[in-house]
Amino acid sequence: MSGIKIVGYGHFVPETTIYNDDFKAIIDTSDEWISSRTGIKERRVAVNETTTELALRAAKMALEDSKVDPSEIGLVITATMSPDSFTPSTSSKLLGELGIKQAMAFDISAACSGFVYALNIATALLNQNNKEYAIVIGTECLSELLDYSDRTTCVLFGDGAGAVVIKKTADAGYFYAMSKTDTENILYAKAIRGNDLFLNSKSTDYHLRMDGRKVYKFALDAVSDAISQVLEMSGLNVNDIDLFIPHQANERIIMSVCKHFDLDFNKFYLNLERYGNTSAASIPIALSEAYHGGKIKPGNRVLLVGFGAGLTWASTILKI
Ligand code: UT7
Repeated sequence: MSGIKIVGYGHFVPETTIYNDDFKAIIDTSDEWISSRTGIKERRVAVNETTTELALRAAKMALEDSKVDPSEIGLVITATMSPDSFTPSTSSKLLGELGIKQAMAFDISAACSGFVYALNIATALLNQNNKEYAIVIGTECLSELLDYSDRTTCVLFGDGAGAVVIKKTADAGYFYAMSKTDTENILYAKAIRGNDLFLNSKSTDYHLRMDGRKVYKFALDAVSDAISQVLEMSGLNVNDIDLFIPHQANERIIMSVCKHFDLDFNKFYLNLERYGNTSAASIPIALSEAYHGGKIKPGNRVLLVGFGAGLTWASTILKI
């Protein structure tokens, strides 16, 4: 089984910025409540771009950064829970724009763990065929799924995309990914269809809904489990990791995880203050920012850890 090396990093966030205080015009909230409970101060909203366009900007940046010729890309996987269409997939729509004539291209849905799941799948598929390179993307327009009268969700999420170009390597890769059924429906967004001719009852609520307290509790266990499992697989310990890049949902979750592993808070890369929770896009945006901002350098070990709807949780250790 081969592993992967990231050879190109990209990200893109839309320009429109919504500050915590902006919400005061539509819901009963405050900057104090949002920033003290979550760490979020602002988020980006796609006013002019679609989920596919955000993905394209991030993937183009990663491809240019990698200097890999598009003809060498054999696989494109996009993780998203807010695609523009049920079909074709976001990945299929990107091929032409990226100058890729033919490649296996599809999307996956694993919510905020989606990017780590997609990296895992890409590694396995590259291992199976004769292609050297893949593009893996996380992209979301969550603003389209939000109910802006629901203060328990609308202040938390934002839009954006991140992408990497990966190359198959001989080194072993370490991945841990888990799902369990969300029997209580603590985090979901329903897929609503227009045709109700044969249905007795029709659901009209497509908004993202979350029982924050229950998800918070799940997240604490899931993040610790994902980190412990992938460290055990690799034979490494927390001090062998140069930077942890967690899913950007809540600063308090990261603080608890730090305490659990007795780690310095600076070992975790955080940007949720600026972007909020961008689900599948949050880890690749942070990864690309950390790389281009010089926070990670060749030779460093980086641990990515995601958690979210499904319920899902996943982790991997990458050598930069
Ligand atoms: O990406 C997927 C993973 N998602 C997550 O990891 C999210 C995990 N959960 C969380 O981050 C936190 O649970 C939240 C940030 C969502 C909520 O924080 P909390 O400390 O768990 O607050 P809570 O839900 O217990 O609510 C406390 C109070 C409630 O009022 P009452 O019932 O005590 O009167 C809420 O109605 O805060 C109220 N509240 C708000 N107040 C002002 C909820 N949202 C807001 C708001 N502004 N935006």
